[in-house]
Amino acid sequence: MATGPASALEFSQNKILAGSWSKPVSRGGATGIRTPDYAGNSMTIELKLNQKSVSLDADPDMPLLWAIRDLAGMTGTKYGCGKALCGACTVHVDGQPVRSCSYPISSAAGKSVTTIEGLSADGSHPVQVAWRELNVPQCGYCQSGQIMSAVALLDKNPKPTDEDIDNAMSGNICRCGTYTRIRAAIHKAAGESS
Ligand code: FES
Ligand code: FES
Repeated sequence: MATGPASALEFSQNKILAGSWSKPVSRGGATGIRTPDYAGNSMTIELKLNQKSVSLDADPDMPLLWAIRDLAGMTGTKYGCGKALCGACTVHVDGQPVRSCSYPISSAAGKSVTTIEGLSADGSHPVQVAWRELNVPQCGYCQSGQIMSAVALLDKNPKPTDEDIDNAMSGNICRCGTYTRIRAAIHKAAGESS
């Protein structure tokens, strides 16, 4: 499963599963994202976000996803399950795919975070092009996470087999069932016919 450091992930997941994120409150209206209250123990965390240096004042336990969306205003990364189970929130930290809903912002300090907005300025990354050409998305909600996982796979394995793809993408859930097109688009981005 693509995640961040086990200790950080487990820490964050345990807090969420234990309900110790305080009472979630609905914030963000149409986004439907549920933002927990934070205790106010904020600190300044410096990192690179899409190749730019940023300083974010945040509770160190705030999930990276919240920081990306609410503090940095980049809403391409989506909230699905909040428990590292669906992959909708996948971003890269130092080139590795992580579930940002379960990755504390403090673990990203000093690191380089890439979101879907940072893949290319104009949607011209080969994976994005392949996705468009094969009309992969249906409702689209899971797709930024799918694309970030696909890019991470191709960075490591430029010519993946079907089995490689299925293994690498197994943690990204699509309830519209676009899996066949996702697999074809990964092959296309790799320069192969499916
Ligand atoms: S929202 Fe992060 S894995 Fe589902
Ligand atoms: S395209 Fe709708 S959930 Fe994946």
